[in-house]
Amino acid sequence: MKLHERIASDLSTWNRCARAYEDAIVLGHPDVCAYEAFEEDFLDALLLYLIRDAGVCVRLFDVGCGSARLHLRYGRKTTPLPRNETNGSIAPDPIMAAGLSRIDGIDFSAEMLEIAHAKLEAAGLLPRAADRIGLRQGSAFDLEAMPGEGVPVAVAVCNTIGVMQGPEGARKLLDAVRRVVEPEGGVALISAYRKDAVASHALGNYESTMHVSGQPCWLKPAKFVSRDVVPVPLDIKRAFDPKATIRVAARNQAGETVEEYLLERDPDEVKRTISRGHIRTYWDYESHWYSTARLRRWMDEIWAGLPHRHIAGGALDRVRAGPAQLAVLDAGGRLEAFFARLGMRKGT
Ligand SMILES: C[S@@+](CC[C@H](N)C(=O)[O-])C[C@H]1O[C@@H](n2cnc3c(N)ncnc32)[C@H](O)[C@@H]1O
Repeated sequence: MKLHERIASDLSTWNRCARAYEDAIVLGHPDVCAYEAFEEDFLDALLLYLIRDAGVCVRLFDVGCGSARLHLRYGRKTTPLPRNETNGSIAPDPIMAAGLSRIDGIDFSAEMLEIAHAKLEAAGLLPRAADRIGLRQGSAFDLEAMPGEGVPVAVAVCNTIGVMQGPEGARKLLDAVRRVVEPEGGVALISAYRKDAVASHALGNYESTMHVSGQPCWLKPAKFVSRDVVPVPLDIKRAFDPKATIRVAARNQAGETVEEYLLERDPDEVKRTISRGHIRTYWDYESHWYSTARLRRWMDEIWAGLPHRHIAGGALDRVRAGPAQLAVLDAGGRLEAFFARLGMRKGT
């Protein structure tokens, strides 16, 4: 499939699954929530370092921002609310409030952005902080440098790189974030799943969220695979669950159960998925879990000439980031002391 065809197909997939993705994945699957919590803690530490230790004012730019998970977090940390309004479990952060000038994001899915707006309004952040919080509909690949107040920190988290239209899209993303951060010596952070975690994490994860993205192609029989009927998993699988079967209720558009049945892993399809790191479902959803070698190669090629570092998630947090990897572009060369603080020596 050509890139523009893949973009069109993925766009309609994301628009269709936006609500279910928000409920069952962003706020739903425990292993995904743990990974998201790790990403947020890591980003907190990175921003704190840049603002307090490196002494710069920063602005955050979330590429493939989806339902604005990071806008919500950093909006809450930096926006004082009246006494009678609660900001959930996120405490105001005076250092962040002083040094984080803006939170912007881009996503191609109008449905995702609608959820994002509704969340930010419900949290009292929009329109209150509309002068500092931005959401834009558009392609991640057309980004250009955006001069403004503060050093840019561009992020693409929760394996956004893996759902950006295959290897061609992934390379374009690396290129796009470089264009955004290089002129002002900013930082880019890409957080992604790793191919060697497909067996332990992806299989169970996609099986127990198949009402969001469709029946994974490694499960048989392919009985209800049209979009008229939703396969709702009746079991939740967590990381390292070796079970080869999963119970499913096929629900029609009225939400009525048409049939309950058992799906079973096809060993050959499972083997193929693990060896390629390529998740596919019968609803045309695709996600790539790239190998560390491949991501490193792209970083070395596309981010050549600028300091960059690959970090295995497990080196920072085995429980929450075990299946993850981070690609960090440090265009301003500011982060060596930050990495040292995390226990990483120069060049490791
Ligand atoms: C895995 S979700 C992650 C959402 C969000 N970053 C989070 O962590 O909750 C990936 C997001 O990327 C968006 N996306 C995929 N391809 C895109 C593209 N080419 N341009 C812009 N957004 C894209 C999807 O609409 C989706 O919201």
